Amino acid sequence: MNKIVIKGSVPLEGIINIDGAKNSIVALIPASILSKSIVRIYNYPKISDVYVLIDILQELSVSTKITNEYIEIDSSKIKNTPLTTTKMGSLRASYYFMGALLGLFKNTTLRLPGGCYLGPRPIDLHLKGFETLNCRYDINNELIYLQADKLIGKEIHFPFPSVGATINTMLAAVLAEGETTIYNAAKEPEIVDVANFLTQMGAKISGAGTSIIKIIGVKELHGTDYVVIPDRIEAGTYLILGALLGNPLEIHRVNYLHLYAILTTLNKCGVKTYINDDKIIVYNSNKLLPTDIVTDVYPGFPTDLQQIITTLLTQSHGISTVTETIYSDRFQNCQELIKMGANIVINDNKVIIKGRTPLKGSEVVAKDLRGGASLAIAGLIAEGTTIINEAQHILRGYSNIIEKLQNVKANIHMST
Ligand code: EPU
Repeated sequence: MNKIVIKGSVPLEGIINIDGAKNSIVALIPASILSKSIVRIYNYPKISDVYVLIDILQELSVSTKITNEYIEIDSSKIKNTPLTTTKMGSLRASYYFMGALLGLFKNTTLRLPGGCYLGPRPIDLHLKGFETLNCRYDINNELIYLQADKLIGKEIHFPFPSVGATINTMLAAVLAEGETTIYNAAKEPEIVDVANFLTQMGAKISGAGTSIIKIIGVKELHGTDYVVIPDRIEAGTYLILGALLGNPLEIHRVNYLHLYAILTTLNKCGVKTYINDDKIIVYNSNKLLPTDIVTDVYPGFPTDLQQIITTLLTQSHGISTVTETIYSDRFQNCQELIKMGANIVINDNKVIIKGRTPLKGSEVVAKDLRGGASLAIAGLIAEGTTIINEAQHILRGYSNIIEKLQNVKANIHMST
């Protein structure tokens, strides 16, 4: 399996360019099949989840072309093939084929999604959305069967603003008959991005980015050229790295409006940042301060940066806490950080971090994507050599991470 090898404690300087948002592109690719003509997606991240989704498109007889600049998707010869291969189970976002295929063909059979283990990750809210639109479903042997005579727009009230369920309901509703209203919709920037993409393809959607999204069904969607928004989690990850090792580090091609929670948190920790349009300069702080973080839905502190900021808090002088409210088991990185010298106590959904503790290079295991990124940052600040096993988890979500870090002078490489 893949390993990342890092020699730590090297100050970093230069520019890191942020690519398109992972949690957006993984919805845009399945959403593309709703158009009968060609869709081109620019600024896509070079991550393994993207390549798996492209492979899945081929199972549907959708033709694709990938260049360094864009992904081209032509669904004019799409076939409603059951998606039952293990590829579907290898990532979470394969669940967006449920909404897209249901919207297009009104029936579909698929393998249930997989993805990082962060505690149980049910899809009951996605199914609630589909059921409200007049769809029946059955789950048997890891396969889900969705069937509707016709999809009819209705009001859907979600008990929790789920990102995936909001997007899947939009995908199923854009070609449905009549008007769909989603109450308590998720408000993440990726929801807005997917809504903008569908709107550019001819869908009628209003309210994305607020708690109420309205969709008026249309007969068909057409092709478009679309540029994905910058990845706010990738940007946040490198901002955290800059706060630890930036000499300084410049993070370019960001949308700082999406980074409010991480920028204010870094500021509370005593980190200096300077925003100039789509660029942020981050300076390492000699004396990081402790803080208390509680994850929340957007615009709160993102759960996807929780594991990564934990690495920074091991270097703060004093006691910090991180409380996770979105997932029940997203602390698998902490055991590995402890191996590297961190003083962390896990208490149910909260970790208590006593800093500052120097970290030492160690052999560790990336158990999930963001946990892996938290270990990469730990390795970059540690004294000595760190080997991260199971590094394929990191490559699922960080575009060209090794090259980007080497460009800012990090001593890092992949190994087998
Ligand atoms: N939930 C349910 N039922 C559902 C759906 C969600 O109980 O039907 C629960 C989940 O179990 C979880 C919470 O609601 O406890 C949040 O789930 P949500 O649906 O909002 O998230 P998601 O669609 O599964 C996406 C991202 C995650 C990111 C979350 C929150 C993708 C493919 N994944 O997941 O990204 O953490 O939104 O922002 O878009 C990552 O990038 O590392 C990652 C895990």
